[in-house]
Amino acid sequence: MKRLASTGFGTACVLFLQGCSGWQSALDPKGPAASELAWLIWFFTALCAVIWVLVMIALATPLMMRSRDGAEPLVLDAGADHRKLRVVVIAVGLTAVIVVGLTLLSFFANRTLAAIGSDAALTIRVTGHQWWWEVRYEDATPSRILTTANEIHIPAGEPVRLLLTSTDVIHSFWVPSLSGKLDLIPGHINVLDIKADKPGVYRGQCAEFCGAQHANMGTFIIAEPKEKFDAWWNDQLQPSGPPASDEAKAGEDLFLKRPCVMCHRIGGTPAGGTIAPDLTHIASRRTLAAGTLTMSRGNIAAWIADPQGVKPGSHMPVVELNGDELNAMVAYLEGLK
Ligand code: CUA
Repeated sequence: MKRLASTGFGTACVLFLQGCSGWQSALDPKGPAASELAWLIWFFTALCAVIWVLVMIALATPLMMRSRDGAEPLVLDAGADHRKLRVVVIAVGLTAVIVVGLTLLSFFANRTLAAIGSDAALTIRVTGHQWWWEVRYEDATPSRILTTANEIHIPAGEPVRLLLTSTDVIHSFWVPSLSGKLDLIPGHINVLDIKADKPGVYRGQCAEFCGAQHANMGTFIIAEPKEKFDAWWNDQLQPSGPPASDEAKAGEDLFLKRPCVMCHRIGGTPAGGTIAPDLTHIASRRTLAAGTLTMSRGNIAAWIADPQGVKPGSHMPVVELNGDELNAMVAYLEGLK
């Protein structure tokens, strides 16, 4: 029984600690901003834990002590009162010093965060929508401006400036492994500088309740070596190629004749909608519907056939298609690499 309990405790500890690592954890920092914040979290937690223990001891000690034999509670003891007053004054003084100290630490951490992106060469505008992320890579050359969705590729080891805004309600951008969270506010731009120390994939999540599918508003930061990032950008700037098969060609025709074109853009075709994710290279992304489904032929079909079943409340409407039409549409979309 004892062994069972200790095994259970061990398992619970492992599961608990696993929550502290991985691709979406503020306690497993992968960039300078997150490291600064993680340090601050641990310091605040440790100091507050020590203070909590001291307060508990101070509360428990008098309760445990028995009153002195024969002491009369109503008799005043000037000496004891003076000692108690001194303890209270020291405790208030220490509290003030600790609070001011923590405030200063937090202030200097903020300064460190602000300095991270001061020389950022890359600016990405991230716009929140219910419930997906529009990602636009800014460039002085208009033909190099790139719009994509939900995945944010960045060069590893370089600071990147994110301009955060929203078209509908307030969202909050949070990639815990790389930075703190910051709101996306309609009609306003917030600046968040991030940097990933090493190549890797880091998951982010909308951190401000924004409606029915707030929980399914995920994003991914994909940090790559600079050459790989540049190659990715150049690839993404290319329009979609011609459909690879007759079935895919039929899918493209359907896409262009059905309401899909009202909302989505596919570069190289007349589809130019801008209120839903750009699909020019949708099959190159890892997920569908902002992290709701992994990218696969079956999931593309599921998302088109029953968007309200996959993501209830989402603005993706049902487009009536028969089986052959659905297969054609999927064949077309899965070729958009
Ligand atoms: Cu967007 Cu929560």
